[in-house]
Amino acid sequence: MVKIFDTTLRDGEQTPGVSLTPSQKLEIAIKLDELGVNIIEAGSAITSKGERESIKLITSENLNAEIASFVRALPVDIDSAISCNVDSVHLVVPTSDLHMTYKLRKTREENLNDALKAVEYAKNHGLIVELSAEDATRSDLEFLKELFKMGEELNADRMCLCDTVGILTPNKAETLVKNIKEYTKLPISIHCHNDFGMATANTVSAIHAGATQCHVTVNGIGERAGNASLEEVVMGLKSLYNINTDIESEKLYKISRIVSKMMKIPVPANKALVGDNAFSHEAGIHVDGLMKNTETYEPISPEMVGNRRKIILGKHSGKAALKYKLELMNIGLSHEQFEEAYSKIKTFGDLGKYISDVDLKTVINEVRGVTLEKKVILDE
Ligand code: KIV
Ligand code: ZN
Repeated sequence: MVKIFDTTLRDGEQTPGVSLTPSQKLEIAIKLDELGVNIIEAGSAITSKGERESIKLITSENLNAEIASFVRALPVDIDSAISCNVDSVHLVVPTSDLHMTYKLRKTREENLNDALKAVEYAKNHGLIVELSAEDATRSDLEFLKELFKMGEELNADRMCLCDTVGILTPNKAETLVKNIKEYTKLPISIHCHNDFGMATANTVSAIHAGATQCHVTVNGIGERAGNASLEEVVMGLKSLYNINTDIESEKLYKISRIVSKMMKIPVPANKALVGDNAFSHEAGIHVDGLMKNTETYEPISPEMVGNRRKIILGKHSGKAALKYKLELMNIGLSHEQFEEAYSKIKTFGDLGKYISDVDLKTVINEVRGVTLEKKVILDE
C-alpha cells in the first residue's frame, strides 16, 4: 500500500496569491482525512501566529492522518512544530551545491552537521522525522547517500527526494530511487514539481521503482506550475499499475472543488479526471461508441472519481448525441421536429457556439412551435 503525504496545506498554500484562514485549513484537513490521506502536512509552524493557530486546530481534531509540520534544520522551527502538537516533522535540508552555496551560504560539512543535529533534536522530542533532501535531483548522489545513511543511523523514519524545480523524467526518477534504495532500508518518499508537466509521471515512476510514499496536492496546486496532483497520482497508480492507496477515490471530485473554491484557483476544464471536460464528449463517432459501450472512449468510469459523464451538443455532434440528450430530458419529438432540431444545432455549431441545456430547450420550443407563454411552462 503506497502512502499519500498531502501537502495541499503547505506547498499548495505556497501557490502565489493564496492564503487560508485557520478555519479554512481545518475544513480542508478534515476533508483530506475523510478522503484517506495518510499524512497531512498542515503547514510550517514557524511561519506565523495564524499558521500555528491553524496547525493547533488541526492537531486538536484527532484525525486519523498523521499531522506534520514543515521545518528547517533549526531547533526554533522544531520547537514551533512541537508547540502545535504535531506527530511528525518534515525536516527539509537543501542538498544541491547550488542551494547550499547561494541560499544557505554553508559548506557541505556545515549543512550535514546542522541536518543531523536537527534529526537528533526532533527524535529526542519524540517526533516522527521525515528527512527531506531539497533539490535532491540536482544534488551530488554521494552527498545524498551520506545524508540519508547518517540520518538513518540517527533514527530518522523516512527519507524524501525532492524534485524541487521539476527536472526529473520518469527514467531518471526510476534510476534515482533504485540508487538510493541500495543505501537505506528506510521508506523512500518522492516530492515532484510540475515545471515540465512531468510531476505525475515522475511520481508514478518513482513509486514503480520502489518508493513507498509520495507527496501530492489536490488539483496539483503549488509553487509555480504546481506539485504532483493527488487525483492523477492515485488514479494513475490504481488504474495503470494496479497499485493501491487508502484514498476513497469517489471523493476526489468533491475535494477538488472545495480546494478550488477556497483557494480561488479554478480547475481547468481539461484537467485530468476532475476537470469538467474529463468525461465530456461531443464528437459524433465518440458519442455513438459510448452509447454502445462506455469503455470505448473512457479509460475509467467518471463515478470512480465522483465526476460525471456529459454529452455536449455542438458542431461535431451526431444524431445519437441528440437522441441521448432528449431521452435524458424525457422529451419526445416527431421525426420532422428531431431533424429540424438537429439541423439547428449544426447551424449553431458552425457559428462557433456550443449548445447548453438551456439552448437545447429553446431549440426544442422552436421546433415544437411553442409560444412564449407555453415555453415558460416547459422550462419549469
Ligand atoms: O519542492 C521542494 O523542494 C519542497 C521542499 C521545501 C520540501 O517543497
Ligand atoms: Zn515542493
